[in-house]
Formats: sequence, structure tokens, C-alpha cells
Amino acid sequence: MKFFIDTADLGEIREANDLGILDGVTTNPSLMAKVGVKGEEAILQHYKDICAIVDGDVSAEVISTDYEGILREGRELAALHENIVVKVPMIAEGVKAIKTFTEEGIKTNCTLIFNAGQAIMAAKAGATYVSPFIGRVDDTSWDGLDLIEQLVTIFDNYGFGTEILAASIRHTMHLVQCAEMGADVATCPLSVIKGLLKHPLTDIGLAKFLEDAKKSR
Ligand code: G3P
Repeated sequence: MKFFIDTADLGEIREANDLGILDGVTTNPSLMAKVGVKGEEAILQHYKDICAIVDGDVSAEVISTDYEGILREGRELAALHENIVVKVPMIAEGVKAIKTFTEEGIKTNCTLIFNAGQAIMAAKAGATYVSPFIGRVDDTSWDGLDLIEQLVTIFDNYGFGTEILAASIRHTMHLVQCAEMGADVATCPLSVIKGLLKHPLTDIGLAKFLEDAKKSR
């Protein structure tokens, strides 16, 4: 399973990358706004800065919603670095653009996926990744993890090359259950990645080992 970090914060990206387990980064306009990146030039430079830190796919989202605009923006983003993946919303114009990007050899991540039908459409268009937002599905009183399980079955049935990128992950159990179900990628905040390290018995056990080690030194 690949681990992506879901942030535009360079400090957090460096910290996750330093752990040696980071496979990529996902961003979105909300995450870019959160770190105060403003203006087209600054945004493009920020993607370059992320690509300089991480050796893996970096999703950069378009904000156009028409086919021509998505293509124009996506081509500009893809030209920034070979690791850029153009993130495209799940709308009809987006699906058309994903098909064109696929033909041009540009990698895509179809975002804002909330049901299996949407994921099938994106996979048929050749998306590199689909991003089901499991936390936001949970927020509507449905089980986001059911969607992951459904997508794994469907993509296996037809051998779709599209990878399932579980997004909107809110806690460590989301990530563990996505791994059980066979999601290809999980993108999560730094707190979730670091949360995977934690167990009180590890801390208690280590304290005891270190205490006992003093007896033989
Ligand atoms: O990758 C999508 C993610 O950023 C959305 O997360 O927590 O805002 O639903 P959240």
C-alpha cells in the first residue's frame, strides 16, 4: 500500500518524507489556501517545491470546470515536473478531459468520488487514480469503507489499471481498514501517519527495557 500525505504544508511533507515511508502527496485548493499560498505564480512554485522534497506522485488540482479550461490548466501543471498528477473533479467535462490526458500520457487523479458509478466512469476514461472521500461519506451516515470494498471488487472484476486512492481519511482505523480491503493508496494527514506508530504498551515496554538495561551497564 502506498502512503501519500494529504497536505500542502512543506514542513509536514518534509517530516513525513524523513520517516522514509512517503510515496507521494495530494493537495487540493482548500489545503493550498490553508497554508496561505496565493496567486498563480506562487501556486505553481509551491508544486515545484513539493516535487523537490518527495520522490513520488504529487496531485495538483485544476480549478476550471470546462473541458478546454481543465486541459489548459492540467497541461501547465503537468509540465512543471514529471511527478505531477493532474487532479480533476468528477464531472462530465472532467471525465472528457481525463480521457484526453490519458491519450497524451498525462497522469490524472479523479477527485470527489462518492459512489461506485463515478469511480467506474473515471476508470473507463483511464484515470491513474480515483479518490473516494471516505470521511465525507461517513459524515453523511453511510460507511465510507463500504465504498472502498465495493471499488476493490469492481476494479478486480475488470482488471482496471486505475488505482484506488482512499482520501478524506480521518483516523488510523480508516487507514488500517483500507489496507485490509486492498486500497492501493491511502492519503492522510500527518497526524494519521504518525498515529500509526503509537501504542501505550510500546512506550511502557521501552521504558522498562531502558531501565533494565542500566542494570547491566
Ligand atoms: O484528499 C481529500 C481530503 O483533503 C479531504 O479531506 O477531511 O476535508 O474530508 P476532508
